[in-house]
Amino acid sequence: MARIGIIGSGVVARTLGSGFLEHGHEVTLGTRDVAQLEQWRQETGGRGQVGSFADAAAFGEIVVLATKGAATKAAMGLAGIANLTGKTVIDTTNPIDDTQSPRDGVLSFYTEAGDSQLERLQALAPAARMVKAFSCVGAPFMVNPPFSEKPTMFICGNDEAARRQVAGIVAQFGWEVEDAGSAAAAGAIEALCILWCIPGFRENRWTHAFRMVKL
Ligand SMILES: NC(=O)c1ccc[n+]([C@@H]2O[C@H](COP(=O)([O-])OP(=O)(O)OC[C@H]3O[C@@H](n4cnc5c(N)ncnc54)[C@H](OP(=O)(O)O)[C@@H]3O)[C@@H](O)[C@H]2O)c1
Repeated sequence: MARIGIIGSGVVARTLGSGFLEHGHEVTLGTRDVAQLEQWRQETGGRGQVGSFADAAAFGEIVVLATKGAATKAAMGLAGIANLTGKTVIDTTNPIDDTQSPRDGVLSFYTEAGDSQLERLQALAPAARMVKAFSCVGAPFMVNPPFSEKPTMFICGNDEAARRQVAGIVAQFGWEVEDAGSAAAAGAIEALCILWCIPGFRENRWTHAFRMVKL
């Protein structure tokens, strides 16, 4: 049981927020405009709380970043970098370049080879224990994925204890966890977002998840 602060009001924030509540945690969602979360708050029977980005970050023992990729640095600034100090911070964001349309279904990222969103955010908040997770699947499947076999969630981050903590949450949400090690793996995990979206943009198929099969 933990207090979870989620920076964001979009489908990822609301889905994970409801998931954390369902699994027994306390949740505050943060936004620049609380009115847009009133429906979500009511859907949770008032158990889900809403506030500013800073309210959510201060509330959370664990903080989740669920903002538009390119806006995440700004959102972290509003949340207060000091509010992330020493905390496990789950980064769900993908560095999608919204100025470009997908080419043959392939999204463009604003990051480059050898670089990643997670590493950029970690550099902005060096005292946060950042872990990439939930970035490689569509929001409807993040909590209790309804597939016939357990899909695999890839996570990474520099702090081993934080990765273990996030692995526990991801497993609680119904996933097999593949711990890919340090933040150096983030670019590879983030690229799975591009792969996941290709069937969607090409053939309007959005109902899948990755599974690592093993001998
Ligand atoms: N959608 C999915 O299925 C999915 C799956 C995996 C990963 N992701 C990643 O998860 C993240 C969230 O995705 P989403 O679809 O839920 O929402 P989104 O539409 O990508 O982002 C919405 C959030 O971004 C914030 N935001 C937008 N512009 C901002 C700015 N200039 N300054 C500060 N904050 C700003 C909004 O703040 P306000 O609350 O103030 O409006 C809102 O909380 C993204 O990085 C996305 O790539 C999405």
